[in-house]
Amino acid sequence: MISQDQILAALKEVKYPGFNRDIVSFGLVKDAHAHGVDIHVRLAVTTSDRTIPVALQETATARLRAIPGAGRVKVEVEVQAAPGAAASVTGPQEIEGVRNVIAVASGKGGVGKSTVAANLAIALRRAGSRVGLCDCDLYGPSIALMFGANERPTADDENRIIPIERYGVRLMSMGFLLEDDSPAVLRGPMVTRYTQQFLRQVAWGSLDYLILDLPPGTGDIQLTIVQTVALRGAVIVTTPQEVALIDARKAARMFAKTNVPVLGLVENMSYFQCPSDGVRYDLFGSGGGAREARRLGVPLLGEIPIEPPLREGADLGRPVAEFAPESTAGMAFAALAGALKKQCD
Ligand SMILES: Nc1ncnc2c1ncn2[C@@H]1O[C@H](COP(=O)(O)OP(=O)(O)OP(=O)(O)O)[C@@H](O)[C@H]1O
Ligand SMILES: [Mg+2]
Repeated sequence: MISQDQILAALKEVKYPGFNRDIVSFGLVKDAHAHGVDIHVRLAVTTSDRTIPVALQETATARLRAIPGAGRVKVEVEVQAAPGAAASVTGPQEIEGVRNVIAVASGKGGVGKSTVAANLAIALRRAGSRVGLCDCDLYGPSIALMFGANERPTADDENRIIPIERYGVRLMSMGFLLEDDSPAVLRGPMVTRYTQQFLRQVAWGSLDYLILDLPPGTGDIQLTIVQTVALRGAVIVTTPQEVALIDARKAARMFAKTNVPVLGLVENMSYFQCPSDGVRYDLFGSGGGAREARRLGVPLLGEIPIEPPLREGADLGRPVAEFAPESTAGMAFAALAGALKKQCD
């Protein structure tokens, strides 16, 4: 006899291709039972990548066969809806009123996603677009701090959260809603639910760009977003270091697997230009971003220098794109906004 617990334990070992998340916690298992020693499992996925159902079927079958005493194993994979199919109910959906939803992502943590997302949002707004910025990092929200915003948002008549506006950008962050470090306790399915509510229940109004600041890596939050929100594309942030580039490649692979176009790479902390003698120092190596962009076949959208005022501005809620647009970093963000606009048009 095989128990259902044994089956689920085996399926928990199966990760969704390109992600860290297992298929059980993501709710892809629709049915799992045994008749004596024979096992029958039904999975449902949302994808138009035909390799995914095949890969899931193969790995799940192998894991189930490895259960001691297992008899016949049957794994069915239902493909529910293709992303991009307008009529699909379960696939990625547009956010009403928003023309381009853009995810700012990275494989490695601390490479400057939030800094890039914040300053890019401001640079786009300064170039005449209507812009929103959503901090999707439930574990470590930082956008509230970077914009010096700490008021609590209110709700409209339809009970949607009204974003906080700063420097002309409409902002939403878990940091506005939580008192302390409580998001750290969120797990699996709860993260999925929060992320969805969070994106859907905000009265963004009409926007040209909604920038999503993602947490690092390829976890629950990223998976929820690529599966539920119709993204115009992703911008991947990296530093020129090899360790960051390897992770950038992983992030790019995750988006490719979920049919989200990678609009380009941004190399942050590209170089340091000494203010006294103007000499340029490539602290983390040089050319890494350009090389990786070529390898991935995507444009290098920008190179942002290391500038102490950039960090200070972030900590004080005074982003350089707003307060020092003529600085090297400020101009780099303006150029990045221009390059991204071109990619979207
Ligand atoms: N180009 C830069 N010059 C100087 N400081 C920078 C630069 N880019 C980022 N920083 C600083 O580095 C730190 C990390 O940046 P940030 O929080 O934007 O990274 P992140 O990728 O969003 O991190 P996480 O993965 O934790 O979300 C911050 O203190 C930020 O101010
Ligand atoms: Mg961040």
